[in-house]
Amino acid sequence: MLTVNKVLYGGDYNPEQWSKETWKEDRRLLALAGIDTVTINVFSWALLQPSEDEYNFSILDEIVDTVSKAGMKICLATATATHPAWMARKYPDILRVTIEGAKRKFGARQNSCPNSPTYRLYSVRLAKKLAERYGKLENLIAWHVSNEYEGSCYCDNCEKAFRKWLEQKYKTIDALNRAWNSSFWGHTYYSWDDISAPNYLCEEWHPGRTACQIQSIDYRRFNSDSLLECFRGEAQVLKEITANVPVTTNMMGSYWFLDYFKWGKYVDFISWDNYPSPGTPYTRTAMNHALMRGCGDGKPFMLMEQTPSVTNWQPYNALKRPGIMRLWSYQALAHGSDTVMFFQMRRSRGCCEKFHGAVIDHCGHENTRVFREIAALGEELKKLEDAFTGSRLKSDAAVLFDWDNWWASALSAGPTIDMNYPEEVFRFYDALARKNISADIIGIGTSLDTYKLLFAPILYMIKPGYAQKLSAFVQNGGILVTTYFSGMADENDLVTISGYPGELRSLCGLWVEETDALPPEQTNKLICKEGALAGTWKSDMLYDIIHPEGAQTIACYGEDFYAGTPAVCRNYYGKGQVWYLGSRPDTQFLDRLVSLVCDDCNIEPVFPAQEGIEATRRGDIVFVLNHNKEETEIVIPFACCDLLRDTQFAAGQKYLLSAAGVLVLRKG
Ligand code: GLA
Ligand code: ZN
Repeated sequence: MLTVNKVLYGGDYNPEQWSKETWKEDRRLLALAGIDTVTINVFSWALLQPSEDEYNFSILDEIVDTVSKAGMKICLATATATHPAWMARKYPDILRVTIEGAKRKFGARQNSCPNSPTYRLYSVRLAKKLAERYGKLENLIAWHVSNEYEGSCYCDNCEKAFRKWLEQKYKTIDALNRAWNSSFWGHTYYSWDDISAPNYLCEEWHPGRTACQIQSIDYRRFNSDSLLECFRGEAQVLKEITANVPVTTNMMGSYWFLDYFKWGKYVDFISWDNYPSPGTPYTRTAMNHALMRGCGDGKPFMLMEQTPSVTNWQPYNALKRPGIMRLWSYQALAHGSDTVMFFQMRRSRGCCEKFHGAVIDHCGHENTRVFREIAALGEELKKLEDAFTGSRLKSDAAVLFDWDNWWASALSAGPTIDMNYPEEVFRFYDALARKNISADIIGIGTSLDTYKLLFAPILYMIKPGYAQKLSAFVQNGGILVTTYFSGMADENDLVTISGYPGELRSLCGLWVEETDALPPEQTNKLICKEGALAGTWKSDMLYDIIHPEGAQTIACYGEDFYAGTPAVCRNYYGKGQVWYLGSRPDTQFLDRLVSLVCDDCNIEPVFPAQEGIEATRRGDIVFVLNHNKEETEIVIPFACCDLLRDTQFAAGQKYLLSAAGVLVLRKG
């Protein structure tokens, strides 16, 4: 765990790119900005190990010394995200092979093959040397292993390691043949050596298309595990030498290649990099925070990076408007972060990040809008002290997110190309978040005991025991909402032969006979005659043809040859209920449904719902954030004190919250 007594404020600092004269000026400016924590050494491998037998820590020593004397805390990176050029020249096994089958050359970053013996050896060796040299620093608060592990490799070493991984999983080649249904298209494997890494030279042919889904899913599992092993190799040696320094690596939210629920078990705390695009809905960013928090079992996390102003890598790199950096920083805190960190301290002069925002801009002084905003936030965070750090959010509602189901639905050949798993999950999270209902994003392994309501859209793949877990949850009074394309397959992507939705059939109280998939311009209607959902609603994408087997029909299709047949059903089961959505309803329908199920299990919002007003409760603090472009009148429902301005509010008091305004309220 990261222990802090105030919100840590800082970010990536790369003084090795600058002269020592500049370091002095950095010291002055960073102090002015209220920066107290720096992440250093992120891309320094080439500097630290200029050749195979030579390590040189003199510059890093000086950097450590300078920032320590300035009173800053250090998050020390292990520098293993880019291997040195000499290593690539001497040991080409370290270079990745792309999905197209091309051997990469030295360059870019995260270009090291995760199964390269050279990479494993030298990355761990470097981590060890760093731990031995800097492990006793009093201001060392965390190890930051590598940087944004990403991508995949298809080289011969990875292929061999994949076969080993498969052997461990399936034990015998016969078991693999059965699980992979390999008699299809004559794929029968005689030996482990017949199995290839499924890239564009064999099973896959363009993004999302593969001849053998399970092989491609297993490869993604394997690749995530391989990168995780690289992390674990370094983490282990760091732990051996510095048992008390927590170890993390910076994650990226809903990132395709890495199953962060699995990774979450091996980091001491979650840290992540938040880069919303200008048009990203605030609730989508909130979902990423919740996902990252969920991967760390709800514990406080670290916002490792965000840009103070612009990025450089989006098609259009809009400035963060005045107040937005502050607003989004508080949003991270509101969702469980104990830090506000930036990429980066000083804007670099060359290469692809020269136009990326930084605390200190190219002009080199403090008289910039961005610097002033950063310094003001720095002051504010000092005043807040430890008002909420270390505390957790508590949610009665949860939304399931599962990488296997993402991979399986995205790689599925049929029924539609329009299923975007994270966006499908988001529709439910969004409906909750817009109502200010606190929700967690949880994984398959997360206990359901503390929740009353669970949304599990596209629960395509049912892993061993999960149907039983869901059924116990509902038996005990929980409400489960699931959708089309659920209960279809087992963890090896073998489709159920006992009628869709397979293991969920009795829980949902229905049988899905067929599923229609239509292009976006062709939609259907959901007609609901009575109750809270009465009305005619639009639905699209997928249309299950349902036979209720105990479930009540709540809405029927309005059109097509299945007009009048059930589209949305509710099944009372034990003390709880299960909702099944056979088609993708519009947002208005979802909003009503969310209200209905929240009422049914007595879930209250943290704060009254209002457009653009986000609220969360962390410990005994309620954060209220105005994402609207205009100032907005809100009603404060309880007596409280705003810690930012030291103002008291009476229950029911009206207040004009400025555009991008923030309240940090303590009740009473
Ligand atoms: C990532 C990386 C940083 C930097 C930023 C730029 O988050 O971790 O090194 O490249 O992106 O946005
Ligand atoms: Zn490889």
